[in-house]
Amino acid sequence: MSKIRAAITGVGGYMPDYILTNEELSTMVDTNDEWITTRTGIKERRILKGEGKGTSDMADKAVLQLLEKTKTNPEDVELLICATVTPDHVFPATANLIAAKTGLVNAFNYDIGAACSGFIYALSTGAAFIESGRYKKVIVVGADKMSSIIDYTDRTTCIIFGDGAGAVMLEPTTEEMGIIDFIHKSDGCGVDYLHMKAGGSRYPASEETVRNREHFVYQDGKTVFKFAVNNMADYAVKIMERNNLTGDDVDWLVAHQANKRIIDATRSKMGLDEKKVLMNIERYGNTTSATIPSLLWDYEKQLKKGDNIIMAAFGGGFTWGAIYLKWAYDTK
Ligand code: UT7
Repeated sequence: MSKIRAAITGVGGYMPDYILTNEELSTMVDTNDEWITTRTGIKERRILKGEGKGTSDMADKAVLQLLEKTKTNPEDVELLICATVTPDHVFPATANLIAAKTGLVNAFNYDIGAACSGFIYALSTGAAFIESGRYKKVIVVGADKMSSIIDYTDRTTCIIFGDGAGAVMLEPTTEEMGIIDFIHKSDGCGVDYLHMKAGGSRYPASEETVRNREHFVYQDGKTVFKFAVNNMADYAVKIMERNNLTGDDVDWLVAHQANKRIIDATRSKMGLDEKKVLMNIERYGNTTSATIPSLLWDYEKQLKKGDNIIMAAFGGGFTWGAIYLKWAYDTK
């Protein structure tokens, strides 16, 4: 019997309307368009506005679009996994809320928290359910409302992050398509360099944690940069070597959008032409769990059945890794 693989059979996405430009940020903190563009590649990012709106208010739109595009009956979806670091609540899981809003009445669903590697971790997890032969329709979402945990008086972080959501459908195939291989790694040493200190069980919210601005992202940018640039590039190359792929065999690099310089270094180590790198960091910034699915969403029409794709990510934890997949459809 031929092996069952998990193929991405559709993509949905949602980006909020409000555009926060480098120009507007330079009226809020001591920064400028030239610094942000040369150091990160970011020009603007999207911000979810509105009282009482959370990550699920973007993810539900991405999932509804995905259901429509793939002509899927919501009752047929068996599992939804949501990668996020900005859940609507500590509990219940944001995946539970997304499923309720989109009519996935028969799906079980849960969140995965692996910071900027969340989507690739969730994708390989979802794929394993399909490969087991037991599940036929799994939705994997990457969504974050980063603006809810960003300190807009801290120029070292507020210029980087944005809000957004993306979602993919996974279904079984016996063709040589879909998720072929993955390597995931984690190292808890990263907590000192990239974290949100308070609001969890270690430092529950108090007047003091609020006063100390500890409910915001803290990042030691230089240290994270060094870890990110080495690990993302090394693991993208490792997965290529393991699957006997050269730069010529790879059609697309779909990398976490944290910093254009990190993506350029990864591309160069992989021996790829610049035209093979999907980029949207200039328009959305770093949307954490949503960067990779939003790239698939933006570039879906350019992806062809059989294209070799390398996904690569690095994030808080530290967490990192790479996925090798073959794109499974042509967009009509
Ligand atoms: O997605 C999760 C993983 N995260 C990442 O992969 C992010 C990794 N880190 C980075 O992308 C970069 O380190 C940053 C974009 C965060 C920072 O870029 P950098 O080239 O590492 O800058 P830096 O922190 O070394 O700062 C250089 C200078 C400093 O001034 P001095 O000390 O040289 O006088 C900063 O104070 O730039 C200053 N600076 C700024 N200036 C204008 C820092 N932020 C800003 C700013 N505008 N927004």
